[in-house]
Amino acid sequence: MRVLSGIQPSGKLHLGNYFGAIKQHIELQEKNDCYYFIADYHALTTVRDGDQLRKNIHDAAADYLALGLDPDKTVFFKQSDIPEVPELTWILSNITPLGLLERCHSYKDKIAHGIKPHLGLFSYPVLMASDILIYQPDIVPVGKDQKQHIEVTRDIAIKFNEAYAEVFKIPEPHILPHFAVIPGIDGQKMSKTYKNTIDIFCDENELKKRVMSIKTDSTPVAEPKDPSTCNVFALYVLFAAPEEKKQMEETYQNGGTGYKDIKEALFHKIRDRFAPYYEKRKEFHADRTLVENILRSGARRARETAGKTLREVKKTVGVI
Ligand code: ADP
Ligand code: TRP
Repeated sequence: MRVLSGIQPSGKLHLGNYFGAIKQHIELQEKNDCYYFIADYHALTTVRDGDQLRKNIHDAAADYLALGLDPDKTVFFKQSDIPEVPELTWILSNITPLGLLERCHSYKDKIAHGIKPHLGLFSYPVLMASDILIYQPDIVPVGKDQKQHIEVTRDIAIKFNEAYAEVFKIPEPHILPHFAVIPGIDGQKMSKTYKNTIDIFCDENELKKRVMSIKTDSTPVAEPKDPSTCNVFALYVLFAAPEEKKQMEETYQNGGTGYKDIKEALFHKIRDRFAPYYEKRKEFHADRTLVENILRSGARRARETAGKTLREVKKTVGVI
């Protein structure tokens, strides 16, 4: 099965990215033909500082590699190294109804958060459709917030196939229900845009500060608490074995334990889970050439696949 996904280098990777996307990406590489990329052209919609973007691209790639992405098993590359993608974007723009883009939550949401609307932000889903369809994947593993973008991609592919010929495979979103929406420290979806993240890699003091600032209700220490509405519990279960989850539920229901102690337990879980990756991360972060070579060699492989699809599309629409 062919698997494809991308992640924007728009800031530090956080637990929402890990459980919603990265963890699945790494697991799926064992038995599938995987294509993963750093979506740097998408990040241009929000990042306006060249040095910052360059750093973000390297950091995101290094973090992915440290977490277990294996460039021998997976085609790992940078979106902007594939010029076929923007070419296809233009072709797809001509069959994309404006109404489809006007309905996108992510566009409306970004504007609601004060980002000035521009053409790139509006046409973002067409670029995304292009960088999915060009590799003809079967599935696209993402968090729930990307579901609508995959639906737009499917609509565009169906429209193209109906208007011209059956060129594109129609991809399926792959969203794991347990990990569909990871909450941030304020209880909303964890997102860089909301500044409510807990980063995968950060120093211990910062991690503790973030965990201790997770919003909870004001139930007194002695009283029973409701795990099902608690953000700390929602994050704790991501790291806990079934037995630990049950024990924690009992701790909530019995009362007598304060949120401070529960947060302490979560802090340990997060720290211990990612501790084994710090050493590898240091190596990849220090070796810019190694990371660049991996991305460049991934791009060569990705371009072979992208080139085939683009050629077929160009023949179909009549420019070749
Ligand atoms: P952000 O919202 O922080 O900018 P991205 O849009 O870069 O994150 O997301 C990269 C990947 O991580 C996408 O597949 C997205 O669906 C997933 N993801 C991001 N935040 C969450 C979350 N809170 N819960 C589940 N998945 C998430
Ligand atoms: N829009 C995605 C996000 O913000 C990133 C992305 C770009 C992507 N192109 C993609 C994800 C193709 C999956 C497939 O997370």
